[in-house]
Amino acid sequence: MAKNMLKEGKSGASDQLASAVALVTSSYGGKVNVMSAVWALRVSIDPFLMAVFVGHERETYRLIDGSGEFGISFCSEEQSELAHIAGNYSLKDVDKFSLANFHPFKARFIEAPLIGNSVSCFECRVIEKFDVGDHRGFIGEVLNAYYDDTKKPLIYNGGKFFKMGERIRHS
Ligand SMILES: Cc1cc2nc3c(=O)[nH]c(=O)nc-3n(C[C@H](O)[C@H](O)[C@H](O)COP(=O)(O)O)c2cc1C
Repeated sequence: MAKNMLKEGKSGASDQLASAVALVTSSYGGKVNVMSAVWALRVSIDPFLMAVFVGHERETYRLIDGSGEFGISFCSEEQSELAHIAGNYSLKDVDKFSLANFHPFKARFIEAPLIGNSVSCFECRVIEKFDVGDHRGFIGEVLNAYYDDTKKPLIYNGGKFFKMGERIRHS
């Protein structure tokens, strides 16, 4: 049986997940921040809603909770260094925008900037929030979006960044 080929273990199973990588931007009380998130995804077609799950101890949590807004910029494969920086440093210690050029640009409907050179960017207004375990889920109504269909998404798998592979049959 195929099941016998599978190893057992929560950590190993988690490492097999593959996700897009987002740069979540937020702004509140004069502070502007960017944080990496793999737990960022579309959750409704009509209305167009995005969700992001943010750890309670993150500065991003405080900024989104306070402002009721967030930006999501999905990384292109040339942005792995930015995803590394935004995911390993906190605004508690450093302004991440001073560590690298994130190519931020002004959004139309939210205070937080969006990140240039991404594959797609979404301006979101929080319409619902709830706690799940050690994270808070923020559901955002998408007010505006941008994309670049010449770029390819960055992939995160087992703690490492990858380029997207080739297209295969049945898709
Ligand atoms: C690739 C990657 C993905 C991450 N995904 C998430 C996520 O979905 N949610 C989350 O709360 N933290 C996530 N993190 C951790 C935060 O990005 C990290 O704790 C960051 O330092 C928080 O920054 P802040 O305190 O300035 O908000 C991720 C980190 C990396 C490197």
